[in-house]
Amino acid sequence: MLLAKPPAPLSTGWWFDVFGTGNRNHNRPDQDREMSASNPTDSLKDASPSPTAASAVMKTYGRADLAFVEGEGSWLITEDGERYLDCASGIAVNTLGHSHPALVAALRDQAGKLWHTSNLYRIPGQETVAGKLAGLTGLDQVYFCNSGAEANESAVKIARRAAHERGETDRMTILCATGSFHGRTLGMLAATDKPANRTGFGPMPDGFEHVPFGNLNALRDRLGPHVAAIMIEPVQGEGGARDAQDEYLRGVRAAADEFGALVIADEVQSGIGRTGTLFAYQTAGIRPDIIAVAKGLGGGFPVGAVIASAEVGNAMTPGTHGSTFAGNPLAMAVAEVVLDELAAPGFLADVRRRADIMVAALRKVASRHAGKVVEVRGRGFLCGVRLADDVAAGDVVAALREVKVLTAPAAENTVRFLPPLTISEEEIGLAVSRFDDVLARFGEAGDDS
Ligand SMILES: Cc1ncc(COP(=O)(O)O)c(C=O)c1O
Repeated sequence: MLLAKPPAPLSTGWWFDVFGTGNRNHNRPDQDREMSASNPTDSLKDASPSPTAASAVMKTYGRADLAFVEGEGSWLITEDGERYLDCASGIAVNTLGHSHPALVAALRDQAGKLWHTSNLYRIPGQETVAGKLAGLTGLDQVYFCNSGAEANESAVKIARRAAHERGETDRMTILCATGSFHGRTLGMLAATDKPANRTGFGPMPDGFEHVPFGNLNALRDRLGPHVAAIMIEPVQGEGGARDAQDEYLRGVRAAADEFGALVIADEVQSGIGRTGTLFAYQTAGIRPDIIAVAKGLGGGFPVGAVIASAEVGNAMTPGTHGSTFAGNPLAMAVAEVVLDELAAPGFLADVRRRADIMVAALRKVASRHAGKVVEVRGRGFLCGVRLADDVAAGDVVAALREVKVLTAPAAENTVRFLPPLTISEEEIGLAVSRFDDVLARFGEAGDDS
């Protein structure tokens, strides 16, 4: 007998759920607009907050009909006072949870002093944060930006420019991995291994190739004097919480050195403590030439950074790159707090301890629902549960939302758990027990009687 249906609207997987490639919730905004345009008074009324269907927000996301107005630690609160346990962290962003007192104080303090000056002048906060990032990675220079895609885009520009400055003007190719996600600018669409994301946006920039994730021989076969850099996520996030493994990363570093290529670590999702170390590559004992960072660095404030060795960074001279808002005083004030909190004695060790508890609890749930779960994977608080083909991750994420636990879907039918690094043991227990309950309500794999 088929067990109880999932309680939330059915979807067909993570892609459908997040980016709304289906028609669910797509009501008639055109009709609404026509009606309001015919009567100026109505159009004024329409300027007040409206439900999703009538919203003027472009529909690039298939949004849940939920709006949060407050956050508190690991919890998000709706205008009706409903509390949701946040195990998504705005997709790996709210490193220290919501409304962390030190972050709030730093932002308030800076907001009262100065917001923006442009990069035509020195920005002392940049110098502080760059110094911390360089010190923590053993690299030398930092370029600030505003997002993950921009960080990766900048990393690629820096890698190519460094080859150009060495006189190796044919070294332009960036080798990326299958399953990778690097962002949605045109360049990063070409770097990302998701052909569907590119539909209708061509032509794509040249110079990006994909090699099988985790396969060193395949990588070595594609290396040569045309390769500027290997770009790799040490733990793939959107790709389904897939850990590249330390041995592979060591092999990537060695192969890059042998063939004269650089290593770009895309730590946009896996960095800033999410996997239990400041950066995920660090457990491999290697050092990339370039590290792209964003998401968790601002704890919820938009900021990105590219950290590079001097050898590479020196290729970037005034006028080669830039961005108006990049590294503004507000962003720097919060990034400094995030880095200081992570560097506090014992902080990351405790993240590892609590993440181990979460993974162990998820493994127990997985063994109780063996027919529905393929594996628990990922690292630290970038962990995922890959589900059997007939239990759609998008449905499980929606069902979890119904019981007020927020998670994020990922490729390979995976439900990602990305809680704030500050989540408590008790909150972990609650999230996992609700996951257990939700899985119990889904039909057994292959049971259609
Ligand atoms: C590994 C990785 N790189 C880059 C990006 C793009 O970041 P953003 O959405 O800030 O542009 C993401 C976003 O999910 C990511 O996970």
